[in-house]
Amino acid sequence: MNRKFIVPLLLILGLSLSVSAQAKEILIKFSHVVSADTPKGKGAELFKKLVSERLKGKVKVEVFPNSQLYNDKAVLKALALGDVQMAAPSLSKFGKYTKKYGVFDLPFLFKDTKSLACFTGGDTGSKLLTAIEDKGFTGLAYWLNGMKQLSANKPLKTPADAKGLKFRIMSSDVLAAQFEAVDANPQKMSFSEVYNGLQTGVIDGQENTWSNIYTKKFFEVQHTISESNHGVLEYLVVTNTKFWKGLPADIRTELEKILKEVTLKVTAWALEKADADKAKITKAGKAAVISLSEAQLDKWRQAMAPVWTKFEGEIGKDSIAAAVACNK
Ligand code: SIN
Repeated sequence: MNRKFIVPLLLILGLSLSVSAQAKEILIKFSHVVSADTPKGKGAELFKKLVSERLKGKVKVEVFPNSQLYNDKAVLKALALGDVQMAAPSLSKFGKYTKKYGVFDLPFLFKDTKSLACFTGGDTGSKLLTAIEDKGFTGLAYWLNGMKQLSANKPLKTPADAKGLKFRIMSSDVLAAQFEAVDANPQKMSFSEVYNGLQTGVIDGQENTWSNIYTKKFFEVQHTISESNHGVLEYLVVTNTKFWKGLPADIRTELEKILKEVTLKVTAWALEKADADKAKITKAGKAAVISLSEAQLDKWRQAMAPVWTKFEGEIGKDSIAAAVACNK
């Protein structure tokens, strides 16, 4: 071939090869609602970093924190439509897709985060990962945030103190029943609206973990936080099944490996941050942190106990029993 043609031909070939290499890069948009400096926020960033180190040019992860892209409700719809590829909503936000995750919302079911880890790592927890497969979602991992505390614009020591107050809850009927059990008014609301709701008095209180109360500044617009540890905040790292199954097997395996590594780190961060953020809130002195006595906690337990019976049919008695067994 004439040399005059060879150089341009090679250039065109090189260009089209690089275009096709670029076209092959898989984009994973990971959307979440919390601050980047939370266990989940840090987990998503670490996932992005490890993917860029180990799957360079093959997979790229983009992280969208703070409800930048989607709020709680919208993200699962976006995942179903393929507008994002990964998310990690609280298990309390899947009620539209399965009632089974209600187990994570039962008040005082998990004694502590160790019991929770025993449950998610056991047979029942593993089976629950697949509870939303028929809806087109694949559960990839559980990520820990921690134990929830109760905050309000007045001290909450016994259930009687909650009477008549409006509490923001995630979109869970179990959480609604939990507050109704103490004669309070639950209000389902997106996480991104909580600060304003508290500030303007649309709601009187809320329940959340130390890291969410700290990073979203709820402690600045609440008078008290009762250390109730009455519930858990656990996430499901979730993807669109069609997208996940469509990935080349070697890439999927590597992503699963990375996720396992990240999950361990998220647990460590969650435990560290619960203590550190509680200490920062206490030091700030804006909301008084109230410790509850065993007798006071017992009153909350008793008042909320009927919620277990109310939901045991849809959650499954076996699942509740497996969680109870993890408390030993
Ligand atoms: C989250 O931690 O993802 C948000 C939890 C909430 O909505 O309270």
